[in-house]
Amino acid sequence: MDIAAADLPPDRIYKLLVNTVMPRPIALVSTLNADGSVNAAPFSFFNVFSNAPPLLVIGVEGNKRNDGKPHKDTGRNIAARGEFVVNLVSHAIVEKMVACAVDFPEGTSELAEVGFTARPSKQIATPGIADSPVSFECRVFSNQALPFNRSLVAGEIIHLHIRDDLIDEKMHVDVDGLDLVGRMHGTGWYTTTRDRFQADRMTLDEWKARKGK
Ligand SMILES: Cc1cc2nc3c(=O)[nH]c(=O)nc-3n(C[C@H](O)[C@H](O)[C@H](O)COP(=O)(O)O)c2cc1C
Repeated sequence: MDIAAADLPPDRIYKLLVNTVMPRPIALVSTLNADGSVNAAPFSFFNVFSNAPPLLVIGVEGNKRNDGKPHKDTGRNIAARGEFVVNLVSHAIVEKMVACAVDFPEGTSELAEVGFTARPSKQIATPGIADSPVSFECRVFSNQALPFNRSLVAGEIIHLHIRDDLIDEKMHVDVDGLDLVGRMHGTGWYTTTRDRFQADRMTLDEWKARKGK
């Protein structure tokens, strides 16, 4: 089927995108509310973008409550403070991550609601989530408010936290131990990262040898 994107309303395109682009990594983003309490919300329009500088990107949608405020709490807090923490999501914390997406009233601390533990950050005021195996302290690199109630947030990773038992002195990460999950199709489907295979990149010579040239 050929589909011109312009022929579809946004909710249809959303469905086609989230049911095809998967699995998507999940950023559980912690931010500071105006009163200093800690907000947390998951975002799967998310990925790492570059390593020099180390950037990640997040698409923050407008506020469903449609109360004239342009952003979700996360978007407002990021705009106000210029910093946030991305906490990656392991299988062990999926249920709490999902609970963080409840449309709590503005100013609610999801951390307190769902029982996550805050971990003080090293370089920014916003705490991370200690229950997450990996957290990235980020400063806003750019925050582009798009004309359709969405923001494209690029964060520069300025500090990494990787749980001590998941990384050794040689900086080898125990990817099994991370046990990260990804977001799949529909409203509530996820996948683990347990089913893997290897497909090594080749040099040109290796490619030629394989082709018998
Ligand atoms: C797994 C998952 C991924 C999500 N991804 C996004 C996303 O990429 N962008 C977005 O705007 N909302 C996303 N949401 C919805 C927000 O997490 C939800 O609206 C949340 O309540 C926002 O909280 P806040 O107002 O505290 O920022 C996602 C929800 C879940 C459960």
